[in-house]
This record gives sequence, C-alpha cells and structure tokens, in this order.
Amino acid sequence: MDYQILMEKAKFAATNSYSPYSHFPVGACVLGNSGNYYYGCNFENSSFGLTICAERNAIGNAIANGEKEILAVAIYSPKMQDCLPCGACRQVISEFSSNEGIDIITEVDGNLKTRNFNELLPGRFKL
Ligand code: THU
Repeated sequence: MDYQILMEKAKFAATNSYSPYSHFPVGACVLGNSGNYYYGCNFENSSFGLTICAERNAIGNAIANGEKEILAVAIYSPKMQDCLPCGACRQVISEFSSNEGIDIITEVDGNLKTRNFNELLPGRFKL
C-alpha cells in the first residue's frame, strides 16, 4: 500500500495545528475501512490537560463520519522525525484497530516508515 497520500494529508493537517504553548505542531491522517481519509491536528488549551492530540482529533473525525474500523494512521510533526503516538492515543487507536494490528506510518529522513500497531502497544487492553 502506498501511504504517500496519507502522509501528505497528515502534513497538511499539521499546518493547521493550534499549539501556542508547546510550539509542537502535529498532524495525523487516518485511512478508514471505507477507503476515505480523515485528518486532524493537535489543539491545545490554556488549561494544559485539555489538549487534544492530532491522532485523537483525526480518529474523532473518522468516527463522526461513520467509520467503524481504521486501516492505517499517518503521523507527522515538523519538529520531530519518526513522530509516534503518545500512550493515550495508542489506547484510542487500539479501540478501532483489528487484532492483527494496523499500519502506523511516520516519516524518517523524508522516507515513510511503517510499523504494525501491535509493536507499539503489545498486550493491549481490549474488551
Ligand atoms: N501531540 C500530538 O498531537 N500527538 C502525539 O502523539 C504526541 C503529542 C501533541 C500534544 C501537544 O499539543 C504537543 O504535541 C506537545 O506534546
């Protein structure tokens, strides 16, 4: 699977990041089971704990549009190579990921890197 489009949309989303406190923009894009793409960026709050990560924003967008399962997630920050999801986002990705794990896409030195989600959250909790 060519995830270039997924990463391009994650990069675009990062340009809309609202991150005046951390100055760490992040964009994410989700490929839904329907074949549609959904992107999101992080948006922070002066009450810092209310910050929403790019991945959760993108997944919320997918769910609001009727997706039940996610096939892949691309994550991008202009401030970090190989930007991986935080622990909270890993649990949220888990909710919509197959047991076999989905593809997690990052960028390293301009090249896409694909990992299986189960590598990022082994032994995950799932009802
Ligand atoms: N952030 C994300 O959007 N995704 C991640 O996986 C890591 C962290 C955001 C949250 C906060 O706005 C900023 O990056 C610094 O932590």
